[in-house]
Amino acid sequence: SEKTSYEAWLRYEAVENDALRANYRLRCSVIVSAEQTKVLGTAAKELAEAVQAMTGHVPDIAAIRDRQIPCVIIGVLGRGDPEIDGTAGPDADELGSEGYVLRTLKGQQGEADCIAIVGASDRGALYGAFHLIRIMQMRDSIEDLHIVEHPVNGLRMINQWDNMDGTIERGYAGKSIFYRNNGFVEDFTRIRDYARLLASTGINAITINNVNVHREETNLITAEYEQTLSKAADAFGAYGIKLFLSINFASPIAVGGLQTADPLDPAVRSWWTERASELYRAIPEFGGFLVKADSEFRPGPFTYGRDHADGANLLAEALAPHGGVVIWRCFVYNCLQDWRDRSTDRAKAAYDHFTPLDGRFADNVILQIKNGPMDFQVREPVSPLFGGLKDTNQILELQITQEYTGQQKHVCYLVPLWKEVLDFDTYAAGEGSTVARIASGALHNRSYGGLAAVSNIGDSACWTGHPLSQANLYGYGRLAWNPALSTEQITAEWIRLSLGSDPMVEDVVSGILLRSWGIYESYTSPLGVGWMVNPNHHYGPNVDGYEYSKWGTYHFADHQGIGVDRTIGTGTGYTAQYHSPQRELYDSLERCPDELLLFYHHVPYTHVLHSGKTVIQHIYDTHFEGAEAAAALLEAWQSIRGRIDEAYFELVASRLSEQREHAKEWRDVINTYFFRKSGIADRQDRLIY
Ligand code: GCU
Repeated sequence: SEKTSYEAWLRYEAVENDALRANYRLRCSVIVSAEQTKVLGTAAKELAEAVQAMTGHVPDIAAIRDRQIPCVIIGVLGRGDPEIDGTAGPDADELGSEGYVLRTLKGQQGEADCIAIVGASDRGALYGAFHLIRIMQMRDSIEDLHIVEHPVNGLRMINQWDNMDGTIERGYAGKSIFYRNNGFVEDFTRIRDYARLLASTGINAITINNVNVHREETNLITAEYEQTLSKAADAFGAYGIKLFLSINFASPIAVGGLQTADPLDPAVRSWWTERASELYRAIPEFGGFLVKADSEFRPGPFTYGRDHADGANLLAEALAPHGGVVIWRCFVYNCLQDWRDRSTDRAKAAYDHFTPLDGRFADNVILQIKNGPMDFQVREPVSPLFGGLKDTNQILELQITQEYTGQQKHVCYLVPLWKEVLDFDTYAAGEGSTVARIASGALHNRSYGGLAAVSNIGDSACWTGHPLSQANLYGYGRLAWNPALSTEQITAEWIRLSLGSDPMVEDVVSGILLRSWGIYESYTSPLGVGWMVNPNHHYGPNVDGYEYSKWGTYHFADHQGIGVDRTIGTGTGYTAQYHSPQRELYDSLERCPDELLLFYHHVPYTHVLHSGKTVIQHIYDTHFEGAEAAAALLEAWQSIRGRIDEAYFELVASRLSEQREHAKEWRDVINTYFFRKSGIADRQDRLIY
């Protein structure tokens, strides 16, 4: 049973239908792979294992095709195999560098049919193999295939926030699978299994240490760790995933023995150049660096009176000869804002810091921008920085780990949230300038683009603590591959792959997942206000937790009203960072969408929303209804008892009952706070403490 959830969406149950099983078995009786690269080897092995588990037949893996026997051939375009090249034909133009064609070739003159998986590269072929596996897991037909796919985003990255002491910053699924006691784990089995899960959704890059690079982690770029890193790079490399490291900007001082880390200092430059060459000597496939600098007390170029472009270009110069990239995070703000100062606004910070630098970053620098201007709240607007850069590579950063969305104790399916972000129109180059098109690089024709996300896995038996949180990891990979996939498709896929194809299970589980974000929002964070959580660990209700802390992140609730005035006329002027018509929409108290009202405006509790309710009544209603809806999730789940694995069922049931109780606490704490502040009674006269 633990195994059931350990396999996650790569669960290969035997095919129940005899005819279908016989068909899969026939079509995949032999796997032919003429070339012997590491990644193609992985593709053949993965397919063989899946076929064996689903059909009971162990396919032969052969180098040469016997034309009398049906088979699957796996190959890569342009390597001299006429059959492979011929299969792709005109489709080849659509594959980019990581796409694939999955196609049935009809046998001529008595020869057997075969299925060809043709990759534009080794990685493309691997993705094609996982696609074929997925079709069989879904119990769909593998006759007459003609599928042409390529990823929309070049970089599809995962960020681990793992520390070498084995803890995970914002981790809610146990300890690190990478580290123990300030070193790497000995056994890499689980790391390999993780690579496999990620690759099956199309992930192609990973940083394996926290963006906050502490003492021991600073050493990861030194000779001390080269051997182990190269082992890790191999484990991921076999699945087409490039290894990256988060680095400490002050490394020249911390490990290099220099007096400075000034990006314009020649000794600092040659130190990084030397380090990068060393790293690439040990790990030729190394991807590059991820950098959190001048943010939340991390060192950076500001110390030396330099800016982010100076800092990023320093590292870019060192990595460029090896084809490496620098991913520079834009999560930069003043975290000690004084409540009396109403013009400083954390939401404005990333845009203010980075838009003046547009065009100054080296070609191999990519800015990594969080989806919202604050910090992965349950609801916040889309970062205006996406609309503010034209001549800079940029990728979108999402958070899969549920820091502010229930910490994997509450179910909160994030695909719908991410879809809203990706579909958001910045109007940067007129209508249709969506975040998806900016992040992919398409809108401004950039050479790099993509998505990065903070992982939600640890050493928990089901990877993610809450088994349903696996859907977020899966969904992230699928959206990074293609942001146009619908929430419904991704959800249905994940359920069928992970829990089987019982229609009732699909119905109930998709209902739970699709409602979950809205429910979580309703009993936690009204009208886009955010931050009403306990400081530090960020779990559970605490309306004034950040209101009276020096880590100033305010909502300014008092006895008259609540919300942050971010308008141009009377507020912080944040709304001016958007292009029209978004700017005017958010700036207008009348037109601002209800769900973001308190993010943009300070209003009295009696302010009437578009919904017709007052703000205070909305707070009461959503909290009472939200807690009820949370309880209903458990009831819905209970209806599928006996239809899925019992241990899986129990694990989710226990999380859902914890959620039900915790939702009541949220309801009561929030309602009593606003009742006492406002003195306005609930119109329905429900119990408020
Ligand atoms: C949040 C989070 C931190 C993290 C930071 C970041 O503030 O709470 O744990 O380090 O984001 O993204 O750098």
